[in-house]
Amino acid sequence: MSVRSFLRPDRARRPDGQITVGAIDAVRLDALREEATGIWASAMGYPSSLIATRASLIRQHLREPDLRAVTAHESDGTLVGFAYGYRSQPGQWWHDEVHGLAERAGNGVLLDWLADCHELCELHVRPHQQGRGIGRRLAEEFLATIPARRVILSTPDSPTAAVSLYEALGMQLLAPGFVFSTDARPFAIYGIELTAR
Ligand SMILES: CC(C)(COP(=O)(O)OP(=O)(O)OC[C@H]1O[C@@H](n2cnc3c(N)ncnc32)[C@H](O)[C@@H]1OP(=O)(O)O)[C@@H](O)C(=O)NCCC(=O)NCCS
Repeated sequence: MSVRSFLRPDRARRPDGQITVGAIDAVRLDALREEATGIWASAMGYPSSLIATRASLIRQHLREPDLRAVTAHESDGTLVGFAYGYRSQPGQWWHDEVHGLAERAGNGVLLDWLADCHELCELHVRPHQQGRGIGRRLAEEFLATIPARRVILSTPDSPTAAVSLYEALGMQLLAPGFVFSTDARPFAIYGIELTAR
């Protein structure tokens, strides 16, 4: 699957209700951390008491290699969605968790992906703005910025809008049913090859 083959110009380039989607740098993401974390909490159904801790985690992520971030804004400047990720490498919590799970599962394909890939760490749209094509635009814009040949991510292993989106983008299921040390829910690992870039 190439980046160009999953881009859908009809939606990706459409004004779509005055929503502007574009790449931002780490400095800008830092400035948007509180607002973005509020979206993360409402989109995932987490209590607002977790926002400060999560915002601190985003600050740590700003130092990760090859950080890429994209945002969606309304014309009045309101942030309605965001996505970011970085090169996945040993020493990062998510990378080490997935690596350990892949080893225990004997999943050589996933281990191979982990050796050279970017992680899509977060992708969220404000609940009242979901279902309007914003998530797809954010994902496409994010993938178009990636300086790596592969992107992987984890998402709850259940029939969610996120899973529909990833499959609609042509992502492949690399591992189902992974249980992280911090969460009782099973997660699925998805990946996409960006070979034509
Ligand atoms: C997942 C999410 C980012 C998608 O953003 P969105 O703006 O709602 O999605 P879009 O309107 O761009 O739809 C993109 C695709 O998602 C899927 N989708 C969207 N809403 C859906 C729904 N209610 N049910 C099933 N599939 C849905 C469709 O496959 C759609 O494909 P299409 O482009 O061919 O129509 C958003 O729903 C969200 O923030 N969810 C909660 C947080 C979350 O789960 N984040 C991902 C964590 S890994």
